[in-house]
Amino acid sequence: METSQLDQDFAVVTGAAGGIGLAIAKRLHRAGAKVALLDRPGSEVLKAAAPIGGLAIEVDVRDPAAVNDAIANAHERLGGLSILINNAGTGMLRPMHEYTDQQWEDLIAVNLSGTFYAMRAAVPLMLEAGRGVIVNNASVSATDPTRGELPYSAAKAGVVALTRGAAQEYGPTIRVNAVSPGVIRSPMTEMLFKSPAILEPVEAAVPLERTGEVEEVADVVHFLCSEGSRYITGQNIVIDGGMNIPQAGIDGVLKTSLGMMAKAKAREGEDEEA
Ligand SMILES: NC(=O)c1ccc[n+]([C@@H]2O[C@H](COP(=O)([O-])OP(=O)(O)OC[C@H]3O[C@@H](n4cnc5c(N)ncnc54)[C@H](O)[C@@H]3O)[C@@H](O)[C@H]2O)c1
Repeated sequence: METSQLDQDFAVVTGAAGGIGLAIAKRLHRAGAKVALLDRPGSEVLKAAAPIGGLAIEVDVRDPAAVNDAIANAHERLGGLSILINNAGTGMLRPMHEYTDQQWEDLIAVNLSGTFYAMRAAVPLMLEAGRGVIVNNASVSATDPTRGELPYSAAKAGVVALTRGAAQEYGPTIRVNAVSPGVIRSPMTEMLFKSPAILEPVEAAVPLERTGEVEEVADVVHFLCSEGSRYITGQNIVIDGGMNIPQAGIDGVLKTSLGMMAKAKAREGEDEEA
């Protein structure tokens, strides 16, 4: 059996009008799944869904009743629901003490509450069907909070907690995993790519020496939805080119030292040959 095929599957992807969500929707469609693309009212979700014959549903994930309706609607119109990808998210950058109540509430509402509402709506349908897979899009900021993004980081840490807890509660019927991207080129991060002064240090700090592409997240999500990952649940898969390995405080110094050692060794070799 081809373990990556999803032709018996019905998938809902939130935040699917563009960026990582659209790449995931396309990948699941290519693997054979029937796909519903959800995004906020006024987004480009109708336009995004058309080329892949996907079902487009406008919904604001901050609204629990609207999320219930959207999941029920997708379930009915797709003919089932076996995959839920919680990908809708939003970020903001400022010192923690400058966040307003409204900004805090909004970041928690979109990134964390939206994930909870969609899982709560989808789980009974999956339990009834006797199978299901959920993949939540967290972030490397969930485990290593990032400067200027503390409400976002806190929300994403909550997403990882929901993921691990739900994997425990709903196994063996439903598998639940998270992905944690590092720096991926998408509408959310586009401003980084406009400035080499910002981008170059990021790339230099990543062992794979580049930022990621949306398809590279979609590849992993596809794997987590497929039979190939049937013994994986409750995990948070980091997709960051190794960005979190180097120890920021010392890595630059050691990299320079190793470079100097290599040069000295090369010089010794030249002297011996001469
Ligand atoms: N790009 C990165 O480097 C990166 C890194 C780590 C995590 N992520 C996560 O990946 C996910 C996708 O982000 P992206 O990079 O593709 O950015 P993006 O801005 O292109 O995608 C986010 C999508 O979520 C939708 N959305 C926002 N608020 C919504 C709401 N209230 N209701 C419904 N939909 C809503 C947006 O309309 C958009 O289509 C997000 O959860 C983000 O936090 C991205």
